[in-house]
Amino acid sequence: MSVHRCHQLFAQNTLSAVPFAMDIVADDFTLLCMNEEMEDKVGPEALGQMCYAVLRDDGRPCPHCPWLGPIEPDQRGSLEVDGLLGGRSFRITYRLLEVDGERALLEVFEDITAAKAAEQAMQESFAKLQRTLEGTVRALATMAEKRDPYTAGHQQRVAELASAIAAKMGLSAEKQQAIRIAALLHDIGKVYVPAEILNKPGKLTPVEMDLIKTHPQVGRDIVKAIPFDAPVDQIIFQHHERLDGSGYPKGLEGDAILLEARILAVADVVEAIASHRPYRPALGIEAALGEIAQNRGVCYDDKVVDACVELFTQEGFRWTDEDSIPRP
Ligand SMILES: [Fe+2]
Repeated sequence: MSVHRCHQLFAQNTLSAVPFAMDIVADDFTLLCMNEEMEDKVGPEALGQMCYAVLRDDGRPCPHCPWLGPIEPDQRGSLEVDGLLGGRSFRITYRLLEVDGERALLEVFEDITAAKAAEQAMQESFAKLQRTLEGTVRALATMAEKRDPYTAGHQQRVAELASAIAAKMGLSAEKQQAIRIAALLHDIGKVYVPAEILNKPGKLTPVEMDLIKTHPQVGRDIVKAIPFDAPVDQIIFQHHERLDGSGYPKGLEGDAILLEARILAVADVVEAIASHRPYRPALGIEAALGEIAQNRGVCYDDKVVDACVELFTQEGFRWTDEDSIPRP
């Protein structure tokens, strides 16, 4: 077959062979011509009518139609339009044609109704999964606090403070969320410690202390089964580590401790000192801030301490159930 003949066949048959509806529309919106796919949808009598009158459910021009604004020579582009041909959605790819000073738009219609519905279903499914995960975290946190009434609300308050510190330090939304979840669950490992030890009013024996010190590891083991995107289990595992290596369970130092865990550690200590405990009354915010200031850069990350102190002294940070915590 000659190249010329091939070009002829190509020009004659392409429009009917493609699986997309196509048309050409004049600059006064008149439908000038269309391929078979389009004719199947709108009928042959659509020719010569206003394109929007036959295509759109509301009978008005498409928003952002190129004919509604200034149009450049050789302009091409695409737009997504809902409410066409009985509630369907299309991506319309267009190109300006100009012959002997007359202008028209060649338009190709790709039906994206199913793709948009699938995307929406996926978004709804993702939102439901997020709600399920949030519910799981809440249920686990409540379980731990039901056993240990003295720390009821502790994890919630630590989560509020740790999130505020993370936000003030400019951590990403994903890291802030990971810190919040880790904080809500950080003492979950205490379910392994007998309640009489947790609630003991007097001093703990070394054996009892050792048992309490297992809670970061137990917490990590409980939480690691949940497929969080972030290392929530590691943040929990490291929340009693201290910069100078004096913490537990690993005695990690400096940058070997995740920043998220360094933030959780400060929030945990401040809340714990400020609030009531079985073995002592609440000491208040001033005492809590004094502790982290004294050990700034020694046990606690200096930037985290600075952010925490500023939150209380300059930005008026308050817990949502503030009344139980004394202030100077
Ligand atoms: Fe803890």
